[in-house]
Amino acid sequence: MYHQIGMWDQKWVIGNWKMNGRLQNNNALMHRFRILPTAERVLIGLAAPTVYLLQLHNAMQIVLNNRILTCAQDVSRFPNNGAYTGEVSAEMLADTGTDIVLIGHSERSLYFGEKNEIQRRKMENVLNVGLIPLLCVGESLEEREAGKEHEVIAHQLSVLQGLDTKNIAVAYEPVWAIGTGKVATVEQIADMHAFIYKEILSLCGSDVKIRVLYGGSVKADNAADIFAVPYVDGALVGGASLSYDSFTAIISAAQNA
Ligand code: PGA
Repeated sequence: MYHQIGMWDQKWVIGNWKMNGRLQNNNALMHRFRILPTAERVLIGLAAPTVYLLQLHNAMQIVLNNRILTCAQDVSRFPNNGAYTGEVSAEMLADTGTDIVLIGHSERSLYFGEKNEIQRRKMENVLNVGLIPLLCVGESLEEREAGKEHEVIAHQLSVLQGLDTKNIAVAYEPVWAIGTGKVATVEQIADMHAFIYKEILSLCGSDVKIRVLYGGSVKADNAADIFAVPYVDGALVGGASLSYDSFTAIISAAQNA
């Protein structure tokens, strides 16, 4: 990995392509990234569909001198190898150059029923092979309207308790703000990020290094305001990461925050 300052002090801007991308478009995008302005205060990552990770990793190494990290959107709950048709293990992700692995994205719980127990197994598998897990948490609109957002987030964060790591990365993504164009207010983000920091410190000890990213309709025109919020250490960017212009504008906003 190539970093000017320590990654746990940088702002992280991670693009989550979800189920988007094609070989040709991905290559075209990688070539545009060659002129990416220097942003030594920012850790940049792209989470592509698993089938494209190696393509991205190779392009990032050759064309971009590792200035963008390879991120996976998910990983198997099963370690190593075995008779688990369709699954990709953390060891395989490490073998093919992945750096960071998203775990527990709300779309995984919504469509695939993933809850804490599965996320915990995935976190352990990722840590065991030396990769960095990025745990995603977030409340639904109903939960927020019922005033249960802190309770819900605390429950989701309990996955972190007792993990064998001193580096904790979390993305706070209110489900009602994902892909909806509806961004949480600066007050809502400030409140939840401070809460998440406090929870992590009490679950994992005061000597942990922490990054808490915000996610949910982060765009070029709201990124600067979001990065200015205390305890916001970056962004997990869905839709806006599919375009070079909007993604690089968000990276610049992070660099200038
Ligand atoms: P969005 O997605 O930026 O398109 O809202 C964010 C995410 O789900 O990670």
